[in-house]
Amino acid sequence: MLGRLEQVGTLDVHREGTDLSHDELCARVRGKQALVSVVTSRVDREVIDAGGDLRVIANVAVGYNNIDVAYARTRGVIVTNTPDVLTDATADLTWALILAITRRVCEGDRLVRAGGWNGWTLDFMLGTQLNGKQLGIVGMGRIGQAVARRAQAFGMSIAFTSRKDISVEGTARLPLDQLLMSSDVVSIHVALSSETRHLIDQRALVRMKRSAYLVNTSRGPVVDEAALAWALRERVISGAALDVYENEPAVHPELLTLENVVLAPHLGSGTAETRTAMADLAASNVIAVLSGKPPLTPVG
Ligand code: GLV
Repeated sequence: MLGRLEQVGTLDVHREGTDLSHDELCARVRGKQALVSVVTSRVDREVIDAGGDLRVIANVAVGYNNIDVAYARTRGVIVTNTPDVLTDATADLTWALILAITRRVCEGDRLVRAGGWNGWTLDFMLGTQLNGKQLGIVGMGRIGQAVARRAQAFGMSIAFTSRKDISVEGTARLPLDQLLMSSDVVSIHVALSSETRHLIDQRALVRMKRSAYLVNTSRGPVVDEAALAWALRERVISGAALDVYENEPAVHPELLTLENVVLAPHLGSGTAETRTAMADLAASNVIAVLSGKPPLTPVG
């Protein structure tokens, strides 16, 4: 990625491992024509104004809630993201989490490491079978559909919610409340917006079956983490598996104490192949815009 970008301009690279503060970002973006951002970069009005010469903000992520896209548009700055290249990796991680929580893999791992395993018994650490159960997909975009395709291999039926009036063969589109009430596993795949913030709140959680599981690989604030901690503690639902959090990298302290939740550190697109493809796509978007061509994957 850096090699390709070096061919079109001079680079100012922030090496990972240390946090670039908002003030530093404002200072470093000054005089630059392109900004390659990641999900942890808050690219707000201040940053966009500081980068007065900016022509493109290339986010290395499919989600772009970290960028004030509407404001960028008013300043003539193009925003791009990295869809498609991360669909399979994120769907795979979603399935890793579904299997981990329904089969108690992480809980079992903790027990073995703590020396607490006393051997096989017939009713030891029983999980939940997926075959014949319903997977409820909240948000049937690219990733939701990739998760649905994998569900067929596990013999699950599929229900989904969607803002768009779409039909997907072999699946049922339901209103959110009905999906929550009827699904055995609910997996979230919506973008974060003012409409989806705390979409899964206490009210939504009490709609779910007591035997059901919640999985979130979208954005943390879609789920009210305090309400989820309550629902898990009180066994309002059976379990949850999260890859994203409301205030990353912080996790609601109560979640850390509960056995019936799997906590992954925002790994959705985290394969070497996918991260390379994401970086390449971001570079291609920058190169396109700086060469006066249309970007490959603009947002908005
Ligand atoms: C990662 O979280 C992404 O949106 O790509």
